[in-house]
Amino acid sequence: MRRLGLLTSGGDAPGTNACIRAVVRSALYHDFDVVGIRGGYVGLMEGDFEKLDGRFVGGIVHRGGTILKTARTEKFKTEEGQRQALKNLEKHGVDVLVIIGGDGSLRGALRLKEAGFPVMGVPATIDNDVGFTDMALGVDTAMNTAISAIDKIKDTATSHRRAFLVETMGRDSGYLALMVGMASAAEAIIIPEVPASCEKILALIKEAHSKGKAHFIAVIAEGAEPDCRTMDQYLREREEQLGFGVRVSILGYIQRGGCPTAFDRLLGTRLGVKAVEELADGRHGKMAGLIGSRVLATDLEEVIAKPREVDLSLFELAKRLEIYPET
Ligand code: ADP
Ligand code: F6P
Repeated sequence: MRRLGLLTSGGDAPGTNACIRAVVRSALYHDFDVVGIRGGYVGLMEGDFEKLDGRFVGGIVHRGGTILKTARTEKFKTEEGQRQALKNLEKHGVDVLVIIGGDGSLRGALRLKEAGFPVMGVPATIDNDVGFTDMALGVDTAMNTAISAIDKIKDTATSHRRAFLVETMGRDSGYLALMVGMASAAEAIIIPEVPASCEKILALIKEAHSKGKAHFIAVIAEGAEPDCRTMDQYLREREEQLGFGVRVSILGYIQRGGCPTAFDRLLGTRLGVKAVEELADGRHGKMAGLIGSRVLATDLEEVIAKPREVDLSLFELAKRLEIYPET
């Protein structure tokens, strides 16, 4: 019987457990023996392997995080780390490996492929910066979490007539901030992909106040680099000019956790099944992704060479709606 290994790596993302369930159950369906590797590449290098059965993945689809645990480790980027990992895969009789994770984890998967090991990747990152998939696992849940937080912030902002700077995650990508900003009808969206002028934001807040707006919500991506040292300090120092009081809210890690949405559960299920189907059919070295409404596999080299970029036409569209025109 062939043995399939499975690990989750990098920043955790909701929907991953649904994917783990799909990988394990469809691997058993295809007559693989299944081994889970705990703690991502750390577990791979340290030999933290455990045999999994169908029952192990019962009752997990609604849970955030990853039951296999995850990690980040610099050591796996070295040849020595990768050698150790390959040695453990051989020692535990693993023939093929499924890696669920973000851009970095998929780079790690490519290293194993280059070393001749059959791997399949599944994109899971709230940043949505992985190419050849319209959505990575976790993005939809993270967006919904951020939107519901902003709805609450808006209540207090309106009550006090305040301007809020709300920071979303996303590492170097503005995807999450842009989508969340649009869906929560933010007055301004600040992302790394578009140079942001602090003076312009200041002017926009003043304009909103003079037009009688009850609040001002600016959604700022964590990776944004405005042309002042920090946007919050800049605005706070000029509070009297604004009309609005200024407050900052960093949404942080709540965006990574929680019960996955229906979309993420279904996506995790479909991507997991596809990854195993490819391996069962003797294909590997690819990532399963959602392209349009279809789940397709793309070579890891292509995935890594072409990260997913933010659609700037959506940024322009959002800008048009930020402050209503004078009537
Ligand atoms: P994510 O997968 O969420 O993007 P990271 O970028 O932290 O998270 O990557 C997760 C792990 O993948 C890293 O800690 C490292 O062990 C491994 N990794 C990242 N980049 C590479 C690389 N270029 N080569 C080999 N392994 C890598
Ligand atoms: O990649 C997911 C992510 O949450 C990014 O949005 C963020 O920049 C980073 O991980 C935080 O990393 P850590 O969990 O190591 O603090």
